[in-house]
Amino acid sequence: MGKSISESITKKDHFAKFSGSALYVADYPLDQTLVGKFLRSIKAKARIRKVTLPPLPEGYWIVDKNDVPGVNRVHIVLDDTPVFPEDTVEFIGDPILMVVGPDEAEVNRLMNEIQVDYEELAPVIDIRDFDTVFFDYNYQKGDIGKAFAEADKVYEEQFETGYQEQAYLEPQGLIAQPQPGKMTIRGSMQCPYYVHGAVAKALGWEASAVQIIQDVTGGGFGGKEDYPSILACQVAVAALKAGQPVRVIFDRREDIEFTSKRHPSLCTYKVAVKAGRVTAMDIDVLFNGGAYTTLSAVVLQRGIICSSGVYKVENLKVRGRAVKTNTVPCGAFRGFGAPQTFFAVEMMMNHIAKDLNVEPLDFKKTHLVKQGDATSTSGKYHFPVPLPAMIDEVCKLSDYQKKRELYRNQTGRYRRGIGISMHFHGAGFTGSGERDHIKAVVKLHKYADGKVEILASNTDIGQGLKTTFSKIVANELNIPLDRVLIENPDTDRVPDSGPTVASRSLMVVGELLRKAAIDLRAEWVEGVEQIVEQRFKEPDFMIPFYIDKFHGDAYPTYAWGVNVVEVEVDTLTAFTTILGAWASFDVGTPIDTNIVIGQMEGGFLQGLGYASCEYMTADNRGRIRNNSFTDYIIPTAVDVQHMVAVLHVEEYPGGPYGAKGAGELPLVGAAPAYVSALEHALGEDLNHAPFTTEDTMKVLSC
Ligand code: MTE
Ligand code: MOS
Repeated sequence: MGKSISESITKKDHFAKFSGSALYVADYPLDQTLVGKFLRSIKAKARIRKVTLPPLPEGYWIVDKNDVPGVNRVHIVLDDTPVFPEDTVEFIGDPILMVVGPDEAEVNRLMNEIQVDYEELAPVIDIRDFDTVFFDYNYQKGDIGKAFAEADKVYEEQFETGYQEQAYLEPQGLIAQPQPGKMTIRGSMQCPYYVHGAVAKALGWEASAVQIIQDVTGGGFGGKEDYPSILACQVAVAALKAGQPVRVIFDRREDIEFTSKRHPSLCTYKVAVKAGRVTAMDIDVLFNGGAYTTLSAVVLQRGIICSSGVYKVENLKVRGRAVKTNTVPCGAFRGFGAPQTFFAVEMMMNHIAKDLNVEPLDFKKTHLVKQGDATSTSGKYHFPVPLPAMIDEVCKLSDYQKKRELYRNQTGRYRRGIGISMHFHGAGFTGSGERDHIKAVVKLHKYADGKVEILASNTDIGQGLKTTFSKIVANELNIPLDRVLIENPDTDRVPDSGPTVASRSLMVVGELLRKAAIDLRAEWVEGVEQIVEQRFKEPDFMIPFYIDKFHGDAYPTYAWGVNVVEVEVDTLTAFTTILGAWASFDVGTPIDTNIVIGQMEGGFLQGLGYASCEYMTADNRGRIRNNSFTDYIIPTAVDVQHMVAVLHVEEYPGGPYGAKGAGELPLVGAAPAYVSALEHALGEDLNHAPFTTEDTMKVLSC
């Protein structure tokens, strides 16, 4: 290795992005391309009795369930999301039909003239009123009955978290381009092969007749994991019917109201304590899945695996359910089910500590898992758990202990508080996903001129993957970075190396590329075109995971985080200022320090938004009320003026140069750190996130 792989370089896509020359889906010229708009249900649950259409001018089309030539289901995990709803609509926003045509104003006029006759049915809006359980998972270990029977004290509490909107800069958008016997879809997405599978099924076509191309994508954060599959099926069907390209780009309001979000959660914890130690947890996790299942199964799996936190709990019983409500379907968002349960377990530990009259940090420290310990699912922490050192780092940076003391019993108008949280993020797909479902394949294509192209289906969605992938290959082949080529993935050209989710691309696919580069270096023949391929193989050390039993290694390794947040509450206005946010993150070797620090700071800030101001709710009819950036407030750098994120490096031998999954980790622990700080300032136990100014006002006026 020449220069350290961690040394920061100019990003591969830097020039295109900062100069404005990068082409996003909205930038393609409109020639011959029709505009598509959705007529959406205005009822949360209803039978559609009749749809009355206006006369259609020439060149305009109405597209609905009757136009789907293949299966009217979007292939995601369970295929229950219709491409276009059939007899009933299940949430406000369910896309009944599309109007497509050359002129946007005319499309809008036609939309306004369509009449839908609904027979209203009783919807389920509140998660507490559910009558349909999409997924119900259970696992346990130890002897929970005995532990509770022998406990000195049993604590029971409920924790609630809300929606979170991904708020990527670029809204959802795709173009479908029909050619004879072929359909090409391009646009903003995380997972080209997910879209590929979905479109082939909806059209009823051979996979080879479907081509998916990712365009430069202005952020995804999980929001472009499953949703583009839905939109792609719809635009594909429309383009097929019209025989012309069709483009749909959502405006912000449509994107916020009708595309996937983080699952709201309700978690109930029953905890047994004996001689000052937690001996058992009985945990019930409820996720609001919304109207269709989409990704709820996998989000819930990760959520419940994380529900006992970074703590050693010998006797554990966990139940997790994702339930149906007639609201917008929830899906992936950075953290993928973990932010909800980490919030709950961290707050629970705080409250027990307070009751036992010990400092939360001391209480947590005595329960930390260690290398070699069993995981919640009776797998193993195979690699070092650096939490104690990371806690020391963050406490020192933030002066945590001193401030904990100092901020006791405040009485003035401005009251400060400081809180700490600790968490992990299991790197890669949950359970046997990589082994059984994804089976990633990558290729390196060396051209006669010595340039080497990376062929993988992973996408750069702002997390810097084009740069980090290229660095790995250039480093291993010992060639300059500009001789490594990487384009946005096109399924006609790249093998299926899996989706860009679960912080897996860099760790899992990056390692495959590193191995491919080693092979190519060994086989290198000057002046000759060569192709090498690598396929995923599960690491030998893993304890096989079985999802039916929730048993085994859910992840090969873990990234770790410790967060401290300090706040000041103005007790007159209830406004909270974040005075400081400190974090230590272990994501293994950073493949480009600037990129990784950017990920850590951005994710941490996104988590602080989830904790504090990102409040979103549906009204009693099921409509999302906070549908603009006026009503849904996301934080900016100004809101956290003092943020310090440091890297603690614990190398993972299975990742490229020791790298682990990085992208999601920094969001996961922010909410409990922030709400812990507020508890400290307000002197009250708190149990929900976000904790907004209005919530603080309620505490202060009690
Ligand atoms: N960073 C930026 N700038 N934009 C994004 O959309 N997505 C996050 C995270 N960081 C995201 C991001 C999510 S949800 C995931 S799963 C990981 O990046 C993907 O990281 P990977 O490339 O290692 O798979
Ligand atoms: Mo990330 S939520 O796994 O796309």
